[in-house]
Amino acid sequence: MLSSIMNFEGSGSLQSMATSTSFLFFSLTFLFSLFSFLVFISRMKPWCNCPTCRSFLTKSWTNRFNNFCDWLTHLLINSPTGTIHIHCVGYIITSNPDNIEYILKTHFDKYTKGKPLSIILGDFLGRGIFIVDGDSWKFQRKMASLELGSVAIRSYAFETIMDEIKTRLIPVIASKARDKTKSLAEAETEGKYILDLQDILRRFSFDVTCKFSFGTDPACLLPSLPSSHFAEAFDMVSNISAMRGLAALPMIWKIKRFFKIGSEKKMSEAINVMNNLAYDIIKQRREIGFSSKKDLLSRFLSSVNEDDKFLRDIIISFLLAGRDTVSAGLVAFFTLLSKNPKVEQLIREEVNRVMNPIHEFPTFNEIRQMHYINAAVHESLRIFPPVQTNSKFAEEDDVLPDGTVVKKGNRVSYHPYAMGRMEKLWGPDCLEFKPERWLKDGKFVQEDTFKYPVFHGGLRICLGKDLALMNMRSVVAAIVPRFQIRVVGPNYEPHFVPGLTASLKDGLPVKVYETK
Ligand code: HEM
Repeated sequence: MLSSIMNFEGSGSLQSMATSTSFLFFSLTFLFSLFSFLVFISRMKPWCNCPTCRSFLTKSWTNRFNNFCDWLTHLLINSPTGTIHIHCVGYIITSNPDNIEYILKTHFDKYTKGKPLSIILGDFLGRGIFIVDGDSWKFQRKMASLELGSVAIRSYAFETIMDEIKTRLIPVIASKARDKTKSLAEAETEGKYILDLQDILRRFSFDVTCKFSFGTDPACLLPSLPSSHFAEAFDMVSNISAMRGLAALPMIWKIKRFFKIGSEKKMSEAINVMNNLAYDIIKQRREIGFSSKKDLLSRFLSSVNEDDKFLRDIIISFLLAGRDTVSAGLVAFFTLLSKNPKVEQLIREEVNRVMNPIHEFPTFNEIRQMHYINAAVHESLRIFPPVQTNSKFAEEDDVLPDGTVVKKGNRVSYHPYAMGRMEKLWGPDCLEFKPERWLKDGKFVQEDTFKYPVFHGGLRICLGKDLALMNMRSVVAAIVPRFQIRVVGPNYEPHFVPGLTASLKDGLPVKVYETK
């Protein structure tokens, strides 16, 4: 009895000790979190009342500009250094090529993807190449460059692209092209004649990327235009991820994610759809065997076969790299070509001049000789880069070459979209679509990477650049001689939705006419 009372008393004092220890622990944790939060807030300057921060926080920029990128362009053009600072969120944006070279090349280690980016994009891209640093990045870059850099792979990629163009892209566009024997009214009542080029080109790029990178054919670009839950999910996740990156109070999306409500609920459902596709692809590849295959996924499967989550991250990252960028580039190209019939004519003349007349489609070597097409593709990417802005995070306090003061943890971005609109970089005709600016004596001449960072630059330069350009040039050489594509609406202006790659809010409605 006594012993049980003693035990009881003993356990009581033990309990009260445990309670006060927990209380102390939680109080300290709370005070520490409060302190960190205040330090964080003080660095962010959320009270900043400068016109840029005011406009950012109240979104008053929307009164004058359709797109966030157009507002930033306006600010960057009017900044004497070509750099701006949105203090309230610690966000520095530059259009100065010297700063860009400093961040991406000469001081690479000081500017990393860092933890903030993996918090924003981790649910979408996991540990994929776009958001990791250090050894994980080096490993993925090495594996991907073995795949994307090999000469044998280039001709395999070219065959894959041409096959998709011949058997799917051309028949689908032709099915919507206006039949010359019918009147406009007849064609319109048949539902023919207008198509969403953004949708068609995304389907095209999705098929090509899956065939090339994962050895599977999703057959997304068919005349029936099958609905793709995956594509819808992918677009939604890209959009919500971009919104997270622009949030003035990141705490809000984090709370929404914790309680699985609103946009974060949609995001988590969409991620499940994407994951199902990625895991299906992995399963299929295991079933058909991968040791003799040379596609990118097979290479990764041979090294990290057991880690399905990591393989999923690789698949999603390469879909983002290949599908959305190339299609956004082609959408930009046809938007600009629609208003520039002279360029269209010069492209047709070049194809006629270079291509062997007994061929129906140009060969790999013939496309390489089409300098005007190469120039026109680079020019369209200058005006509408698929990746409009790209960010790194400062690892330490620093000063950029133009004198901009950077604090540890600041987000530092460069802005190719704004740069393409700057007189001081491209001259007074910078807003014109002029492929000629890329030609010297009829030959294509490359520009400095940091003046034209459309494919990034420095140590993390895009690994798919040559493949993407070959893909775009092949589509142009095959489509432009066969079809005249005209954007609907005389004063069409693109309206972008927030996303990791440029994406048009209402697609790109076009009218198509056959030329032959
Ligand atoms: C017009 C098309 C393309 C454009 C404009 C483009 C642009 C870019 C940009 C801006 C980056 C830097 C991204 C970042 O670090 O956040 C990048 C990286 C990368 N791109 Fe592309 N890209 C294109 C097509 C492709 C294609 C088709 C592939 C491969 C199938 C590809 C593979 C990659 C990879 C693997 C990286 C990561 C490089 C690294 O972090 O080391 N890209 N690209």
